[in-house]
Amino acid sequence: MTDKTYPPSPEFVANSHADKAKYDAMYQASMQDPDAFWGEHGKRIDWIEPYSKVKNTDFTLGQVNIKWFEDGTLNVAANCIDRHLETRGDQTAIIFEPDDPETPAQHITYNQLHDKVNRMANVLLSQGVMRGERVIIYMPMIPEAAYAMLACARIGAIHSVVFAGFSPDALANRINDCQAKVLITADEAPRGGRKTPLKSNADAALLHCSDKVRCLVVKHTGGQTTWIEDRDVDVLALMETASPDCPPRPMNAEDPLFILYTSGSTGKPKGVQHSSGGYLVYAAMTHQYTFDYHDGDVFWCTADVGWVTGHSYIIYGPLANGATTLMFEGVPTYPDASRFWQVCEKHKVNQFYTAPTAIRALMAYGNDPVTTCDLSSLKLLGTVGEPINPEAWNWYNDVVGKGKLPIVDTWWQTETGGHMLTPLPGATATKPGSATLPFFGVKPVVLDPQSGEENVDVETDGVLAIADSWPGQMRTIYGDHERFEKTYFADYKGYFFSGDGCRRDEDGYYWITGRVDDVINVSGHRMGTAEVESALVAHVDVAEAAVVGYPHDIKGQGIYAYVTLMNGVEPSDELRKDLEKWVRTEIGPIAKPDLIQWAPGLPKTRSGKIMRRILRKIAENDFDALGDTSTLADPSVVDELIENRMNKK
Ligand code: WTA
Repeated sequence: MTDKTYPPSPEFVANSHADKAKYDAMYQASMQDPDAFWGEHGKRIDWIEPYSKVKNTDFTLGQVNIKWFEDGTLNVAANCIDRHLETRGDQTAIIFEPDDPETPAQHITYNQLHDKVNRMANVLLSQGVMRGERVIIYMPMIPEAAYAMLACARIGAIHSVVFAGFSPDALANRINDCQAKVLITADEAPRGGRKTPLKSNADAALLHCSDKVRCLVVKHTGGQTTWIEDRDVDVLALMETASPDCPPRPMNAEDPLFILYTSGSTGKPKGVQHSSGGYLVYAAMTHQYTFDYHDGDVFWCTADVGWVTGHSYIIYGPLANGATTLMFEGVPTYPDASRFWQVCEKHKVNQFYTAPTAIRALMAYGNDPVTTCDLSSLKLLGTVGEPINPEAWNWYNDVVGKGKLPIVDTWWQTETGGHMLTPLPGATATKPGSATLPFFGVKPVVLDPQSGEENVDVETDGVLAIADSWPGQMRTIYGDHERFEKTYFADYKGYFFSGDGCRRDEDGYYWITGRVDDVINVSGHRMGTAEVESALVAHVDVAEAAVVGYPHDIKGQGIYAYVTLMNGVEPSDELRKDLEKWVRTEIGPIAKPDLIQWAPGLPKTRSGKIMRRILRKIAENDFDALGDTSTLADPSVVDELIENRMNKK
């Protein structure tokens, strides 16, 4: 990567929430006395019963415990809506930009948001949803998804949003894992001119779930759906007659706000569980400082609410700050590759936050789709989800930002709730490809992967871990605290282990080098290789499968599957297509392998362990770096795999 630095412009610094001196002072304060620091900043949200304790956390394996503001009570929805009504009831809270640019956008004010969320909360209550019960949300990117999340928060139910791209099977697994009482969905999800049949996916999923699960349907497109009396409920119809008054329920700071399933290196997806108080403080504070959000700005995060980025930076962070947040139903390339920039122009977007994969995809269309739009409202650009390559960074900077806008490259995870490593745009000189420095309260460390010792030199590399808790940290894995401890605190004792590798340069800047576990990052989506493998081996013709990531121009990483067929089954293009389709139905389109290689055998140690390191190198076309293959049970397997890989180029 390049070592060129981009200092903030004096004009930006002058108007920013934090310049360098302020960042340094606040960061120091957050390290020296976390109780005092967060005790103060916790007050940025409204508490019903103020907290007297701030931090109570322990990373010791066997007794991992994370609590913040533990005796405080609050309601997250009231913080995101009610407390703004007096000062900004008529301000737009949510701008909804539909998939089809011809369909008028909606501007939902805080008053209107209040009305809708209260009604939806009353509908949930009328369906018997109680405090602490789970509600699955499987929705298009429409305002009702936001209403549903906030309605849960209002009555103290725990929501779990499942990305609308997941298949019925994946949805059923999540409904069952958290024993959800209600599923909220819509008839169809329009995206890029096509419609995903959400309700029929939901119908298929519910066949595998308890027949007590109610299905609340938002009639969005009006598309036909089968209707099961006594189970399916027309939400919008009920909202019309529901009372617009639903008092927010006081919740403890540590009561769970949501569960979000995410992929790990082993086993089934984990239900990452977040808190109410600490999470909201952290989401709101990072939203304000990282994006330098000011009152009246229009903020656009292009993520889907099915991912953590959508939770923290479309819904909770912005709304807690009284912001105007944009929700976009569509995709960057529909109707054409200038859609993002047209939306920026149309709604005078001030901060724009997207993923490197989208930038790379749009770069391929050249500069015209950007330069034909008026982007003069933009003040800041952001990225998240994967390391950004210099070409994409430069294009974002030169073409979209016209060389004038700060770019914040934010490193964080579903587990962290909010930004962990990020520039503050008025304080930090950026370097393309580096997520730069820690946010307030975050103590990153670089560990030696073998010894687990801290690498204390400034310039070093190793695995990235965090030495102490921050308020936005996940609290547990839903229903499995032991797995939580084992996943994040067992490999490196006393630390939260991120799963990422990193380098720290001479200025103390962090450069994320990617996952060091068996998780791959496809278009910024986390995918456990084990999940794709178990989907593949569930197919009758497949004996064995091994999945690794490989470099992909647009997606960052692609999914490379080595497949060994059952005896007597012949490889064919038809079977390849069948397997692709199979994975789509087992998990969803995002898990479809990009390359399937027929592998008569997989490289294994004599004890039968698959040598993924070798498979990764073959997938990367890096045959010289295979290392020692003599310990394999049958080294000739490797030659055969290389030969097939070579033929593919
Ligand atoms: C990767 C998304 C480099 C990383 C918020 C992490 C990044 C995983 C960056 C989490 C970044 C995220 N630079 N890599 N700026 N941001 N990642 O849980 O590997 O979907 O562990 O959360 O994405 O993905 P998740």
